[in-house]
Formats: sequence, structure tokens, C-alpha cells
Amino acid sequence: MKNSSEKKGRKITILGAGNVGATIAYTLTLKGVCSELVLVDINKPKAMGEAMDIRQGISFCPSVNVYSGDYEDTKDSDIVIITVGIARKPNQTRIDLAKTNVNIMKSVLPEITKYCPDAVYVIVSNPVDILTYTVHKYGGIPKNRIIGSGTMLDSARLRSIVADRLGVSADSIHAYVFGEHGDTSFAPWSLTTIAGMSMFDYYRSINRQVNPEMLKQIEVDVRNAGAQVIAAKGATFYAIALSVKRICECILRDSKTVMTVSSMTDGIYGTEDVCLSLPYIVGADGIISRIKVNLTPDEDEALRNSSKALKAIIDELDI
Ligand SMILES: NC(=O)c1ccc[n+]([C@@H]2O[C@H](COP(=O)([O-])OP(=O)(O)OC[C@H]3O[C@@H](n4cnc5c(N)ncnc54)[C@H](O)[C@@H]3O)[C@@H](O)[C@H]2O)c1
Repeated sequence: MKNSSEKKGRKITILGAGNVGATIAYTLTLKGVCSELVLVDINKPKAMGEAMDIRQGISFCPSVNVYSGDYEDTKDSDIVIITVGIARKPNQTRIDLAKTNVNIMKSVLPEITKYCPDAVYVIVSNPVDILTYTVHKYGGIPKNRIIGSGTMLDSARLRSIVADRLGVSADSIHAYVFGEHGDTSFAPWSLTTIAGMSMFDYYRSINRQVNPEMLKQIEVDVRNAGAQVIAAKGATFYAIALSVKRICECILRDSKTVMTVSSMTDGIYGTEDVCLSLPYIVGADGIISRIKVNLTPDEDEALRNSSKALKAIIDELDI
């Protein structure tokens, strides 16, 4: 069933029906996050096939009207999720992708913003911080309504690794990855808490020591997690789909949840004119506010490094 001219309920558009876009569509449908879901892809048969495949199982899910279409069909979406682009290949850095994906982003932006001027835009395509910045520069959308998925996925990966090491469920651990979704990301360990205690106190409470080498290794493991999955199966899509589902739920429920997503830094903490991930409160209007956290001098330096690295790419690409 295609859309009726009048929108009722909550509508989400996904641009790009590849691995990531299709898995996000499936995840949103399983959870009944919206009532209408539109898939748009330059490869129309692919978008149509993905929508049909999901629709054929819809009797086992909450009611969601899933279909593929053209830009006109996206009209008045509440959320637009952007996954178009070329996926990272094994041994290819996110930065190698930047030029191509920036150009793709620039070409789709005027098409989609024409029909969805009031949507919250969730950018997933990589390099996500650079493409979030591109949407800021070329989208003509208020900055609170532009959210890069950023280090949301990296933070989830961090929580899962710490959970495995401590034997505590990941949902009982508050831990974040800040900065670039990429090589210069870092974990601000001073903000990691378990049961209301700093991670360092928690370790003491169970008569264990925090080993600085272990912390470094965890950061490396988080940074390499995506590449490892790509090397093993060619792409990553389940964990990112779950992260994006969470962002959409927070927007549609106006939950005001703290998330590490990518947004314009406006020079905070001495950063440059870049988009990178810090903790934000996310709700119906997108990014509601930024949380000012206290960083240690080392963490502060790591954030500035990440910002500088992103700025260098932006300058090179002349965005
Ligand atoms: N932010 C994250 O944490 C994260 C995680 C995983 C993947 N990604 C990124 O998500 C993006 C998509 O990955 P994927 O595995 O789904 O790739 P994919 O190649 O499977 O899908 C990309 C889709 O975009 C479509 N497309 C390309 N140009 C288009 C255009 N101009 N208009 C409409 N559609 C267009 C293609 O036809 C394709 O179906 C990549 O950039 C990837 O690096 C990000």
C-alpha cells in the first residue's frame, strides 16, 4: 500500500536501501517505531524488493505501512534517515570514502529537504561526522534537527566490551566514546560509571585494579570493532540499525535521552568548526541541548586532536 495524501501517525523515510538502510527498515518495523516507512534508493528495484520482503511479514509485527517510492513519497516525514553512499570496503579507511559520499550527499539534499523541511535528519553514511557537517553546510535545516549517528555505535560497543570484562550487563554501565566516529575517537574513562560509582571505584569495590594498558586495549578494540566485522562478513548493519532505532524512538517519544551523537561543536572545549560526538539530550526537536562535561586534561587533549583531524579533512575536501 502506498501512502495516502494525508499523513496520519509517524512517518520515517530511509534514503538508501542497502545493507544499512534495509536493516534499519526491518528493525523499525519489528519494533513498530513508526506507522509509515518509505524506502528511497537510486536502485529502485532494490528498494522495492526490500520493502516487499518486509511487508510480507507484516502480519507478525505492529502495523507499519512499508513501501518504496520516489522523493515525492517522502513528503512530510517526521524523520529522514540518510544511509546513501558507498560502503567502506575491507582495508579502506572512512576517509577514503569521504569525497564520493560528500558528493552523493550534496546531490540528494535538495531533493529530500524540498519534501521534508520539518523532519529531524539522522545521518548514518560514512564518514558520518564529515557528512553531518555537509548537511549543516548545504541542507538549510536548523542545526538542532541534524543528528549524526556519530559514536552512538562506538559507545554501545564500549559498553558491551566493558560488560564482558566485568561480568555486568551492558545496560548497567554508563560509558561513552567521544570525538570522531573513526580513528581519533576516545573513551573518556573519567565519565564511566557503574552502579553510580566511577569505574575506578567499582574496580576497587571488587578488589580489582584498573590497568591503564587494559583501558588502551579496550579503546583499540572499540575502534577496530567495525573493521573486524567488515573483514569477516563484508559490512556492518545490525548494531548500527539498533543504534538508529534508538535515536528514532527518542525523537518520536520526545524522551530527552543522553546520547553521544554527532553535531556542530561551535568551538566548545576549544574544538574547531566541525561535527563530532559529545553527549547531547535528544528529543522531539532533535538535539535539545548539549551537556557540558568535565574532562581530564588528557581527555581534553584527545577531543582537540579528534577535532583537528576532522577539520583537516573538511579543509582538504573544501566543504
Ligand atoms: N555511522 C555508522 O556507524 C555506520 C555503520 C555502518 C555503515 N555505515 C555507512 O552507511 C552507508 C551505507 O552502508 P551500506 O552497507 O548500506 O551500503 P550499501 O552499498 O549496501 O547501500 C548504499 C545504498 O545507497 C544507494 N545510493 C547510492 N547513491 C545514491 C543516491 N544518489 N541516491 C539514492 N540512493 C543511493 C545505493 O544504491 C545502495 O543501495 C555507508 O556509507 C557505510 O559506511 C555507517
